[in-house]
Amino acid sequence: MRTVIAFICLLLCAAVAAGDINPQRAQFNYQMSCQGCHAPDGSGAGAVPRMRDHVGVFLATAAGREYLVRVPGSAVSALSDADLAEVLNWIVLEIAGSSVQVAFEPYSAQEVARLRQHPLNEVARYRAQLLAEIASTQSRE
Ligand code: HEC
Repeated sequence: MRTVIAFICLLLCAAVAAGDINPQRAQFNYQMSCQGCHAPDGSGAGAVPRMRDHVGVFLATAAGREYLVRVPGSAVSALSDADLAEVLNWIVLEIAGSSVQVAFEPYSAQEVARLRQHPLNEVARYRAQLLAEIASTQSRE
């Protein structure tokens, strides 16, 4: 019986987690607010870094996870907190590919609301530091 309950919970929990994302709406919002710079497939160009198969590396640390919300393109976008959370979750699921090396806990509207109040000013150096930190954590494992 316990196994059955656990199984039902698993199904329900998965349904709730998946329900956080409406892929059509997320992709539409990405098209309207992000892809002009980030390209439809997240490959970026010029000063815009490639998110495809890469952006998931930031999820390895708490500061990196926060960075994806605090980066100006996210933080100051016109999207609501809920829509931005959904777009970021969609990016992690659809664009980040195998660069996601952690069990990903989807962003909530509340988390996004809190983090986007602190947009980053100087991104390039902060980003380089984050990547160096993440690389050193991984080489210690
Ligand atoms: C006007 C161009 C522009 C738009 C629009 C834009 N971004 Fe960006 N984005 C950038 C640039 C440039 C960077 C590199 C960091 C920086 O200089 O801000 C970046 C970096 C990022 C990063 C971090 C990727 C990395 O490897 O450092 C994320 C996540 C991100 N943007 C998400 C978004 C989301 C989500 C949207 C739409 C809501 C968006 N961006 C809209 C230009 C843009």
